[in-house]
Amino acid sequence: MTWNPGTWRQLPAAHQPEWPDAAELEQVEQELASYPPLVFAGEARNLTDRLAEVCDGKAFLLQAGDCAESFDGFDANAIREKLRVILQMAVVLTYSSGVPAVKVGRIAGQFAKPRSSPTETVDGTELPSFLGHMVNDLPFSEGDRRPRPERLLQAYNQSASTLNLLRAFTRGGFADLHRVQAWNQEFVAASPEGKRYEHLATEIDRALRFMEATGLSSNHSEIHEADFFTSHEALILQYEEALTRQDSLTDDWYDCSAHMVWIGERTRQLDGAHIEFMRGVKNPIGCKIGPTATTDEVLGLCEALNPDRTPGRLTFITRMGATTVEEKLPPLLEAVKDSGHPVVWACDPMHGNTFTSESGHKTRHFDDVMTEVAGFFAAHRTAGTWPGGIHIELTGDDVTECLGGGEAVQTADLGKRYETMCDPRLNGRQALDLAFQVAELLDH
Ligand code: PEP
Ligand code: CO
Repeated sequence: MTWNPGTWRQLPAAHQPEWPDAAELEQVEQELASYPPLVFAGEARNLTDRLAEVCDGKAFLLQAGDCAESFDGFDANAIREKLRVILQMAVVLTYSSGVPAVKVGRIAGQFAKPRSSPTETVDGTELPSFLGHMVNDLPFSEGDRRPRPERLLQAYNQSASTLNLLRAFTRGGFADLHRVQAWNQEFVAASPEGKRYEHLATEIDRALRFMEATGLSSNHSEIHEADFFTSHEALILQYEEALTRQDSLTDDWYDCSAHMVWIGERTRQLDGAHIEFMRGVKNPIGCKIGPTATTDEVLGLCEALNPDRTPGRLTFITRMGATTVEEKLPPLLEAVKDSGHPVVWACDPMHGNTFTSESGHKTRHFDDVMTEVAGFFAAHRTAGTWPGGIHIELTGDDVTECLGGGEAVQTADLGKRYETMCDPRLNGRQALDLAFQVAELLDH
């Protein structure tokens, strides 16, 4: 079947909203299609090249951000704090792995959510589930839960301003390595869990001073600026199609809504619309892989999404669960290795470890997250494959959504600052703690 940006429409698309008004949706799609692209195809190619290095064991992927971005309280500080944590984590990971960290945010477009049930019932009233701010709103009322196409335009606009700010921060001095290291030193000095990493942080200081002394650092843009890419789950295909453009340099099609887009665990059916759409765009793409995935499915995904076997094109983001990763992951690693398909393997230790606490909050325990990461590293060590990266839900804000970590968030604390739109995120301290622990795993 020849591909074009709309061929997905002939196939079943899972987890789509029931848009009440088709004409209204079509009008919005046309409007979006007339808007400028959010990213440039050359940037997406650049990310593919960076991910090819990850494929080759010469770089490490750090993909992180919100489960779902919000239209409410959209402000510069939250974006800055999220970027800051990711930059801090990247420095720690780069130092310990000895290879560059490729930084990709779940940001500037992460507005749509697949849900376990299409509807939610409260006190006998059944309404559509909240599907992310690109589609509807969180409060439980008929008006809020109604899918509204104009939200696609708001998602585009918020993505554009978020991206603009990220570009400014990463180029304008905020991401300077010395500054990021100073923040890490603050974390080490100010928190009990940080104390454990004093040695590592001191070593990074010494490395920076050494570079300075040899005259290596002052003039290099790598020291003062950061490469930062955007990504989101490509769930609402009308939105993705409207932002898909043909690159004038190569004639290839790119989904210009983000540098990288991924397919969720619930929409990776080989004969489904999401695979059909993604196979034709040239961006680097991700695909979530959960514990039910078979080797045949995974090999089928390699063939469907990367028939040319381009390194960096395909990232498998595995989310097996802390108790099953050591059983489920190895056969997949072996099968893909035997097939010769180049893939990046990244670990999402969040989505296989979600449960509801006694207080009624959807949460995750920091220890389970770390157990899955450790299992991921162990499986790769055994298979002789490169544990290429981590995929984390986090925020720079001081929330109490995940249990445990250095400050030992307890079930009774969850209600204090539980602010997520969807899944529970690591807070800034928990995220840094994780980075330092991953650093220890990378170092061995
Ligand atoms: C997510 O990344 O927020 C998500 C829904 O993940 P998954 O598709 O792995 O369940
Ligand atoms: Co999530």
